[in-house]
Amino acid sequence: MDRDWLWWQHGVIYQIYPRSFYDSNQDGIGDIQGIIDKLDYIQDLGFDAIWISPINSSPMHDFGYDISDYRSIDPLFGTNKEFYDLVKQAHKRKIRIIMDLVVNHSSHQHPWFLESASSRDNPKADWYIWQDPRNGREPNNWLAAFGGKAWQWNAARQQYYLHTHLMEQPDFNWRNPELRKAIFNDIKFWLDKGVDGFRLDVINFLLKDRELRNNPFTFRGPSPRPYDLQAHIYDRNQPENLEIMTELRRLSDQYRDRMLVGEVYAPRPDPQLSASYVGDGRNMLHMAFDFSIIYQKKWHARSFINPVQRWYELLPPQAWPCHVLSNHDQPRSRSRFGGGKENEKRARVAAAFLLTIRGTPFIYYGEELGMYNGKIARSQLQDPVGKKYWPLHPGRDPERTPMLWSNQKNAGFSSQEPWLPLNEGWQSQNVEVQQADPDSLLNFHKRLIHIRKKSKALMQGDWKLEADGSQNYLAYSRTWQKESVLVLLNFDSKTKRIQLTHKRYRALFGTHVIPAQEMRQGPWQLRPYEVLILSIKSD
Ligand code: NOJ
Repeated sequence: MDRDWLWWQHGVIYQIYPRSFYDSNQDGIGDIQGIIDKLDYIQDLGFDAIWISPINSSPMHDFGYDISDYRSIDPLFGTNKEFYDLVKQAHKRKIRIIMDLVVNHSSHQHPWFLESASSRDNPKADWYIWQDPRNGREPNNWLAAFGGKAWQWNAARQQYYLHTHLMEQPDFNWRNPELRKAIFNDIKFWLDKGVDGFRLDVINFLLKDRELRNNPFTFRGPSPRPYDLQAHIYDRNQPENLEIMTELRRLSDQYRDRMLVGEVYAPRPDPQLSASYVGDGRNMLHMAFDFSIIYQKKWHARSFINPVQRWYELLPPQAWPCHVLSNHDQPRSRSRFGGGKENEKRARVAAAFLLTIRGTPFIYYGEELGMYNGKIARSQLQDPVGKKYWPLHPGRDPERTPMLWSNQKNAGFSSQEPWLPLNEGWQSQNVEVQQADPDSLLNFHKRLIHIRKKSKALMQGDWKLEADGSQNYLAYSRTWQKESVLVLLNFDSKTKRIQLTHKRYRALFGTHVIPAQEMRQGPWQLRPYEVLILSIKSD
């Protein structure tokens, strides 16, 4: 029997970094009305949902990942009314809206924090993590992910507060039941407004060790920066976090068809950890990101398929995978995978992989054009991480540059100077140019998304690896009942000789000229960087 398939299992999800998508009110910064204005574009490409990076009120120390009022929209982006209109307009087009839920920490400007910080005995005194000094110093050795110590001194309370990110992002005390209730009420507020789900920011950070023990030293960190020379066993990944996931799931299950996807942060891929936040997919999060591919630059069929295979092995059969090649925190895939003159071809192979493996694809805005990382001069840096670590780390501005819409001023993003510079080459790499070219990367995405939508095998079918990538090409089949599809992806600049083993095939999609007639069993040549999707004809 066909089980009930849910929209987020079938869907393709588009991530929008709202500052950079489209500026409707001409202040150089993208906004909600800008997203509404571009819904037709999003619909035309075939996306089923949009995840929007935070739009709640915020002093923007971390560009919205520091929220000062969970129930309002920041005026920079628009009004609550405009947001409700976005939900309505999107739903009319069968596009769902996913908000970013940032509840490990708030802004230091949130009224809860201001109250909490005002004295040791106010009603919210325990809503954040406050500690007396130990031996006249910080309570323990914890460090902040964005640099420096994780403790900040507060003169009014004569105590330190914990911030695992910026000092403007104080961490909540999730052990306090009233705080928990208040956050759940804020979540309900948006669910009641018809929001279709949430992407949960650093969700594995919520609870900290009760005794706030020192993190041990490790040589095995991903980098020599002090934060990575600690094993973060006490400031994140506490097993009791999973109980909160169950509570969150119970809340979302009170509504129809909502979805929770977790960002389970680890400085290097940890699919096992991500999988633990999904469990069997019924009592915890619906999905969680595995960053195995996003964290790597290596261009080889094996470096795509191995992590995916591992991800499938770690998720129980009831759980549903999702996949991602780029986001607002990591260099764009086009820049990571390199390839010189051939990088556009690589972008097609990568996109075809993302859209045909089993699981929900998330596509970061601009990837459909093959946007590169932008070049940001030191004086143009916006991201606090870049400001702190430049030039060792350029920060995250390069992957957050404005969407390229047209040949017009500022690439049609805004009539004003954009908050980050435009990528070089925008005159030839933009939506308008690519829409007019049937062979563009944009139209490649569009065609592929539409083929996926028509194929139950691609959306929900079983997955079977037919060629494991050791020869730098992949072959896998996707099968649902009588429908079977074979995906062939050549990651190499050389032609590959392969063997088609079924009796008959019909070509559905490809990067190269494909045969009009049916193809038959026998040897076949897969050209350099060729993507070929075949329907396997049953006799
Ligand atoms: C992860 C988000 O993706 C990132 O952009 C943000 O800076 C941190 N969490 C802190 O909220």
